[in-house]
Amino acid sequence: MEPNQQDYLSYSDDQHLQVHNINIKDIIKSFPTPFYLYSEKILEENYNAFVQGMQKANIQNYNIAYALKANNNSDLIKKLASYGAGGDIVSGGELKCALNSGIAADKIVFSGVGKTDREIKAAIEAKIYSINVESEQELYHIQQIAKELDKIAPISFRLNPEVNVETHSYISTGAYNHKFGLIDSEVITLIQKVNSFTHCEFKGISMHIGSQLLDLTATFEAVEKLCQFITQNNIEVEFIDLGGGLGTTYRQDQIAPKVDDYLEGIKNILDQYFKRIPKIVLEPGRRIMASAGFFITSVLYTKYSREIPFVIVDGGMNDFVRPALYSAYHEIYPGIKNGHPEQKINLVGPICETGDFFAFDRTLPILGSGDFYMVSDTGAYGYSMGSTYNLRDRPIELLMEKNNKIRKIRESQTAF
Ligand code: LLP
Repeated sequence: MEPNQQDYLSYSDDQHLQVHNINIKDIIKSFPTPFYLYSEKILEENYNAFVQGMQKANIQNYNIAYALKANNNSDLIKKLASYGAGGDIVSGGELKCALNSGIAADKIVFSGVGKTDREIKAAIEAKIYSINVESEQELYHIQQIAKELDKIAPISFRLNPEVNVETHSYISTGAYNHKFGLIDSEVITLIQKVNSFTHCEFKGISMHIGSQLLDLTATFEAVEKLCQFITQNNIEVEFIDLGGGLGTTYRQDQIAPKVDDYLEGIKNILDQYFKRIPKIVLEPGRRIMASAGFFITSVLYTKYSREIPFVIVDGGMNDFVRPALYSAYHEIYPGIKNGHPEQKINLVGPICETGDFFAFDRTLPILGSGDFYMVSDTGAYGYSMGSTYNLRDRPIELLMEKNNKIRKIRESQTAF
């Protein structure tokens, strides 16, 4: 069962915010804000939802290749590796991180439109499961590099299934005019070509149509197109990689599809096309990490002179950029509830841009210096998209283990 936010967030009798019944106020006594706090329990449950979904859908041969871009904290990835996760990587850095964190090389897939020769070389040398090829020129580079190394490079072609998805335009990736993948006629040509290549082995077809998908219609349409493409063209595949993208619940009034329904829907389509279903690779990032992470930030100052008061906190868009970059909505919880009447506020950071905000015009208790707010569902694309913009320190990361002990899992990188 995937965890429900209400199951792990609560307020103590004296109205202080708790995660798994641990008072965040007490954590702040030992660690400086802003910081990310992750829950091992939620992480494990989120991952297990995929394993259980596979079992329920009766998909036996699979690889849940966690997309490292969502969160590259090695301690968290070590946990996922210990549960059996593979890894979806998009850079040499992520390759190194995946291997150092214990993800088996034969469970790693390498996506991305712009792999460098150095990255391709490292991937071939590490003997990863597949390099997902996104252009004809990339294929030539892989063949050449594999030849120089005297190795065989396992490859798949990333098909652009030409579907339109409902999500923020920056994270939609499966339409014809997006830079990602190859269109179907290109894949056919390249499969014919690669057969004569001495140092590449064609193993599968991959796709990824976008991220934060809350409506499964486009996903199922794309899966259907991919299956049709493979079977109509008699393409022999060892695996099919369906990418990531399953959305998460960011707003309390929003309902994300269940992992079970997602996988059952996929299985129904696969059954229509295959007598023997190939290995299924998935590349989920957000759905595994987002709800396992919280961003905690303390109030510095309050400005009442404007129509909507500004509450200025010590965390900024360099720490958590999703609101600034995508106008993303994240639920915000006040660290304390009583004695603070609710009103419309702007919750903003210290960075010198008007776009540096966590919430505009949001009804929340107005807290004072030393109190804190928690931005929820920040485990995915939080720390990993952070920067030192304004030459600010990077926040620390903490893990709440299953025994409720708190452990620092990344030091602050201080500029000051
Ligand atoms: N596989 C590929 C090839 C991808 O490009 C991505 C995400 C994933 C898997 C994982 O997708 P997920 O399951 O996490 O949706 N920074 C944005 C999200 C960018 C997603 C990029 N690609 C955000 O904060 O919403």
